[in-house]
Amino acid sequence: MRPPTITIDGPSGTGKGTLAIRLVRATGWHLLDSGALYRVVAYAAQQQGVSLDSAADLARIATGLALEFQVAEEAVEVWLNGMEISTDIRSETAGSAASQVAAIAAVRDALLARQREFLRAPGLVADGRDMGTVVFPTAELKIFLTASPFIRAERRYKQLKQKGIDVNLARLSEDIAARDRRDEEREVSPLQPASDAIILDTSALDIDAVEESVIALAQERGLR
Ligand code: DC
Repeated sequence: MRPPTITIDGPSGTGKGTLAIRLVRATGWHLLDSGALYRVVAYAAQQQGVSLDSAADLARIATGLALEFQVAEEAVEVWLNGMEISTDIRSETAGSAASQVAAIAAVRDALLARQREFLRAPGLVADGRDMGTVVFPTAELKIFLTASPFIRAERRYKQLKQKGIDVNLARLSEDIAARDRRDEEREVSPLQPASDAIILDTSALDIDAVEESVIALAQERGLR
């Protein structure tokens, strides 16, 4: 029998990553931070001097990544070829580069099987943009998080500051808007809620409240 899956999709700054880690702590399930995969592909391409619109080279990079993930206190730590690159891939510039490579169908195809390999017993919490629509369409519980653009920029600002990454709020707000537009308007796997997703607006909710609602939904569906 296929292990159970909870998918969490939505634009940046809605709290997907934090919610996913909390659910993993509550359930003991595995975690897929799919955004990290796209971030690493863009990072590895830049390291190798590969252009971010060179589809075939990017797909080759996506297929061969020697990656390791570890769930830490509040974030996922990422190693590439044995080197920790968590901070390098978390800047907004890296997010924007990730969004660029994520619009390329060959890159998404190359990462599809790799993402599905994360689904192992006792279960999976998967966070991204197309977890409920494309990667795990039969997930037992699909959550789509939203929040107002201002709140999302502010949350991202605090998150990046905490990580020691220097940012300007106005500039960040523009970058996030541009990135979300690209993620929503691309032809392959655009950012959109699955038809059976539950949409949660987190603008006025703190993370404890979001976690409580999702745990309650998981219990209603017999997942815990
Ligand atoms: O979740 P994140 O901010 O780490 O994601 C970075 C970018 O990667 C995001 O702007 C779009 C892309 N992405 C995607 O296209 N599909 C996913 N499942 C996850 C991320």
